[in-house]
Amino acid sequence: MELPNVHVPKAMLAPMEGVTNPVYRQWVSESLDCAPVGLDTVCTEFVRITKHTPNEKVFREAIQRPKHQDIQLSVQVMGKHIEHMRDAAELLVQKDIDIIDINLGCPTPRAARGGVGAQMLEDMDTLKKVLTEMRSVIPGMLSAKMRAGVTESALVLERAQILEDCGIDFLVIHPRRTIDAYTGCADWRITAEVAKVLSIPVIANGDGWYPTDVLRLLDITGCHGYMCGRSSMRNPFLFDLFDDLLKGKSPRFVTVDMLLTRLHVLILRYIESVSERYALGRLKEIGRWVMTTVPTSKEQKRSVLQEQTTDLVFQRLAEHLTIQEKQLGPIDAQAASTHRLMPTPTMFFEF
Ligand SMILES: Cc1cc2nc3c(=O)[nH]c(=O)nc-3n(C[C@H](O)[C@H](O)[C@H](O)COP(=O)(O)O)c2cc1C
Repeated sequence: MELPNVHVPKAMLAPMEGVTNPVYRQWVSESLDCAPVGLDTVCTEFVRITKHTPNEKVFREAIQRPKHQDIQLSVQVMGKHIEHMRDAAELLVQKDIDIIDINLGCPTPRAARGGVGAQMLEDMDTLKKVLTEMRSVIPGMLSAKMRAGVTESALVLERAQILEDCGIDFLVIHPRRTIDAYTGCADWRITAEVAKVLSIPVIANGDGWYPTDVLRLLDITGCHGYMCGRSSMRNPFLFDLFDDLLKGKSPRFVTVDMLLTRLHVLILRYIESVSERYALGRLKEIGRWVMTTVPTSKEQKRSVLQEQTTDLVFQRLAEHLTIQEKQLGPIDAQAASTHRLMPTPTMFFEF
């Protein structure tokens, strides 16, 4: 159900709790060319809809759009209370957002205890009621983001079909189960099966680490589009590089200098908008990911992360990355990305 100017995404920044706040969404939206390329939709972290009636305040951060008009905003809600999920949808449709998404993937014990996130896949009757109510008040785009299952993935096709029958406009699938958390590998074969069975567009998510991964992901799954999360923290230029590849060009090289300059922008914004302390926490989390772009020992990681100011963390990070760059060349230049893990034996598809 597309409204004018809103389209089913092709390239999405994944929702990540504690990460995809308005500052981060804006930052990822700014490309190498300072224009939105490669990325067309950013997602908020989930907004939990509880047993209390939702009010405008809970969406204060979620409804902040990136400045670029061309980038769509998807707001994710997580909850199982039928009326409150409808109320949340009613509040959101009055805002300047493009897509409302329901979280069917959160694997945390807290979500599982509350029967929300991926756990909702085990209660399809409630899920159907929630989605039907939401659909009845959302004239625009409604999507769902699901895991392959909780303890097994055998029902993934059936469940995906039910979601389609409830009237969602597109489905994002992260083909891991709750019990996998983020271990093993995303089994793209499951995504391919889902995309084959459904008539609505399917977006592939999970383990798109390098630009070349995305090409293969789209090729293997036949999906309409892709969504990347953690890889945006290790290399914020990722979407631009995918875009290069999709246009048939060689991805541009990312130097350590480019990476650090870009990261510096983000951290300064966190210092200005929140505090040095908060920015330090964010820098350490993202720094961990950035260090996976080069060989990094535990000691090297510790020496970067033990520092107690953003300046010092930057300094250590710069020293470490620069030494590695001298030996290896630009970030990911050598990443052939042929090392995808084999799916775990618990996956149910036989090939
Ligand atoms: C720190 C973190 C927070 C996340 N928070 C959410 C969330 O709020 N909603 C959601 O649907 N998925 C969430 N996810 C899952 C991601 O959206 C995505 O499905 C997962 O990371 C796999 O994609 P990737 O390999 O591209 O990172 C989170 C993942 C991470 C690492």
